[in-house]
Amino acid sequence: MSSFDEYILSIQGLILRFYTYEGIVEALDGVNLNIKPAEILGLVGETGCGKSVTSLSILNLVPPPGRIEGGEITLREGEKTINILEQHEDFLRKIRGNLISMIFQEPRAYLNPVFTVEEQLGEVLVQHRLGELLNSTIQKIDMELEKADKLKRHLLMLHKKLCLKMLKNPRSLSVRVASKIPLVNGFKSKLRMEIRKKVVELLKDMEIPDPQRVARMYPHELSGGMAQRVVIAMALACNPKLLIADEPTTNLDVTVQAQILHLIRVLREKYKSSILYITHDLGVVAELCDRVAVMYAGNVVELADVYEIFKNPLHPYTRALLESIPRPGKEFKSIPGTVPSLINPPSGCRFHDRCQFAMEICNKVKPKFIEVGKDHYVACHLFGGGK
Ligand SMILES: Nc1ncnc2c1ncn2[C@@H]1O[C@H](COP(=O)(O)OP(=O)(O)OP(=O)(O)O)[C@@H](O)[C@H]1O
Ligand code: SF4
Ligand SMILES: [Mg+2]
Repeated sequence: MSSFDEYILSIQGLILRFYTYEGIVEALDGVNLNIKPAEILGLVGETGCGKSVTSLSILNLVPPPGRIEGGEITLREGEKTINILEQHEDFLRKIRGNLISMIFQEPRAYLNPVFTVEEQLGEVLVQHRLGELLNSTIQKIDMELEKADKLKRHLLMLHKKLCLKMLKNPRSLSVRVASKIPLVNGFKSKLRMEIRKKVVELLKDMEIPDPQRVARMYPHELSGGMAQRVVIAMALACNPKLLIADEPTTNLDVTVQAQILHLIRVLREKYKSSILYITHDLGVVAELCDRVAVMYAGNVVELADVYEIFKNPLHPYTRALLESIPRPGKEFKSIPGTVPSLINPPSGCRFHDRCQFAMEICNKVKPKFIEVGKDHYVACHLFGGGK
């Protein structure tokens, strides 16, 4: 693949297997993928092709009995490159949330039913952006100091001192003791006000009407679209470099889905995060994405610019997938055959038993993923994948 300098995340030859009682599920068979800064990359493919497990691998969160048995996932952070699969759990916890966030299909599963939106979003902000919140609290105290009389000055100076202490060490003993003393603990309510302001700002960014009221709501009071917006706010609260969205609109009705897609585009402009958008809906891909990676049975088989994929699809599976989109006045063509089991998957090219162009080599040799045009990658023997 092209120079890594162009990417914020690169996956090379990722191999993942699940060791189940039924047998070994060869879930990812050498996946190659890269994500550019501030782009929306669509990851498409039929059910079970490995979209979700690819995204879980990026966070090194594959559940047992899954095992990553080959390949590399590299994240770029400034001048540094981080090999995700070689990091310790403590460091990975910092990456998750700070550099990479994820949103899922069912937003309510990720919201705690007993806390309000403000409490949950506030918690994320405290975990990831406490420094910024304390600095704006200190600024507010400085402004109050300008107008304060002598007695109030003493108290405000104490509040400022405690904020500065908290900035150095949020769990310092003096801060914890001060939090329990009336008046002295006023620094905490000042910080809380800053958190509330930030929460409302974030909800406004999510185009939520009446954000002050929504901030006080519990998850069960939110509509599906609203709950998904809150979860997106939580994912973006720490300004991640990469946002992974795994079919986030599947359970929403079409009008709400369109609003969320619009929101994701707006947020990409504002937050400049890259987005890996997982879907099986090619309509969503056409509307939202800059580039597309097409997956089939544990492999990325084609990767290109969205216009290129729709105008000039090369891999027979991509072509079949595009032909299977129902269009008015056009005969509906489904892909012949069924998705193969990933326990003892087909040899060579995993698409060979459904491919109308299959050649002798196809069931023997796995095609390589190669660049066949500018930034257009394909894994197919028709395009020299055997070389
Ligand atoms: N915990 C698990 N144990 C065993 N096999 C698993 C496990 N999780 C995923 N797999 C297998 O890995 C393969 C890829 O699954 P994955 O969930 O990534 O598919 P997907 O492309 O996200 O599908 P969908 O569109 O239905 O969400 C599938 O064959 C699946 O059965
Ligand atoms: S490698 Fe062969 S079987 Fe696979 S998609 Fe290309 S032509 Fe079809
Ligand atoms: Mg999935």
